[in-house]
Amino acid sequence: MAFPKNFLWGGATAANQAEGAWNEGGRGPALTDVTTGGTKDTPRYITFIDKDGKPGFKKKHDKLPEGAKYAVLKDQYYPNHLAIDQYHRYKEDIALFAEMGFKVYRMSISWSRLYPKGIEEVPNQEGIEHYRDVFKELRKYNIEPLVTIWHFDTPLYLEEEFDGWNNRKLIDLYVRFAETCFREYKGLVKYWLTFNEINNSMPQPVRDGSTPLWRYQEGLQQLHYQFVASAKAVQIGHRIDPENMIGCMICGICYYPATCDPKDILWNRHMWEEKIFYCSDVQCKGSYPTYAKRMWKKYNVNLDITEEDLEELKKGTVDMYTFSYYMSQNVTTHDGMEKVGGNMSSGTKNPYLQYSDWGWSTDPSGLDYYLEMIYDRYEKPIMVVENGLGAFDTLEEDGTVHDPFRIDYFREHIKAMDLAIENGVDLIGYTTWGCIDVVSAGTGEIRKRYGFIYVDVDDLGNGTLNRYRKDSFYWYKKVIENNGNLENL
Ligand code: BG6
Repeated sequence: MAFPKNFLWGGATAANQAEGAWNEGGRGPALTDVTTGGTKDTPRYITFIDKDGKPGFKKKHDKLPEGAKYAVLKDQYYPNHLAIDQYHRYKEDIALFAEMGFKVYRMSISWSRLYPKGIEEVPNQEGIEHYRDVFKELRKYNIEPLVTIWHFDTPLYLEEEFDGWNNRKLIDLYVRFAETCFREYKGLVKYWLTFNEINNSMPQPVRDGSTPLWRYQEGLQQLHYQFVASAKAVQIGHRIDPENMIGCMICGICYYPATCDPKDILWNRHMWEEKIFYCSDVQCKGSYPTYAKRMWKKYNVNLDITEEDLEELKKGTVDMYTFSYYMSQNVTTHDGMEKVGGNMSSGTKNPYLQYSDWGWSTDPSGLDYYLEMIYDRYEKPIMVVENGLGAFDTLEEDGTVHDPFRIDYFREHIKAMDLAIENGVDLIGYTTWGCIDVVSAGTGEIRKRYGFIYVDVDDLGNGTLNRYRKDSFYWYKKVIENNGNLENL
């Protein structure tokens, strides 16, 4: 068993998927508050009122029509408004995390709870105090907070009036928000992540031209502004407290070539470069990699990058690499193979793997592969900050939930981390995703459950919101007690 003595075992959530209380405590709306629920086969829609006052629906990547305003429509249900109501129930949730023996809890700060529109000079004090209380509660149980500063929830006002991250002004507004977090929570929080799954802004590379080029132009430009914002935040975070450990956070997919055709091998390498390494090369090494030029040419992009920006990138490299890991993807240049989806990605079906009810592959070996590959590239401490199985659960009449499939999933992934550590990877922590059931980011469902703790609420917000310990709760508690030794578990 290779886990170091002070290994950070825990779980992860995000403000917009857990808190609820979307219009309480002085909080302003975020894009997630005008996003409806969907399913595996039907998308989530973003709602608006068009220039003639008619209600409208758009998909995530569609443009908001000219003159339209984002709006909450009366006849629609918005799952993030209530989520699991953690805003009011955080003490109960933290007590349950403590019961499992958590050493760390990953959560995010809602930008619009601190800066309701994102443009204010002075933050919303009620929001500041809320998170201070949460951090103090965690500390009471010796649980280290790991805080994501941005987890998909730019204030709606900035989306509407500034066109979100397409606008360079977002850099300074984000930096103000981040600086407030570092100052206010100095001494309470040491571990920070600047942007959740930053690489999701990079559209999936496709060979058939089905993704319009403007999406690459926008995606890569947004990424550049986020890189600069992150680099500036890292410098400020270090200045405010040199003890701060600040990380990047990458949506980690382990890509494989579907065949041994050399074209597939090369396509697979490009997939790693474009989807995985592009962001972390900049954030960990402080400059754009060589292959960035190839990408910019391929996608015909013309980016607003200044000399000052490049200086900031150099000075603001992160202290650690963190990532989410759910699955691997096969990629190919061949037509006719069965297609599969996944966490913000797509590929072709891997005959050697099992797929979840939502069509995500389960591939623990890919986690070891990924960890060893990344450590070798950056040689920085690593944390796996999301991992888990989204599945259906049944609450029995006696309040139990039997989830052996989830235990099996975690067991195999913990073994993979063990192996990676044994092989030399400096892995310092593991926070499973949705350690308590939360609203799914992709589908808006709550029935896609990841937690050790079951929350009694359905996709339309019906239920008591009571919390129940699943079988995996007791199992993970033992894993933590044994510091990852899985003998007899
Ligand atoms: C990651 C996100 O993409 O995966 C989380 O950081 C998200 O916010 C998680 O919830 C699981 O995805 P989903 O779509 O099943 O919620």
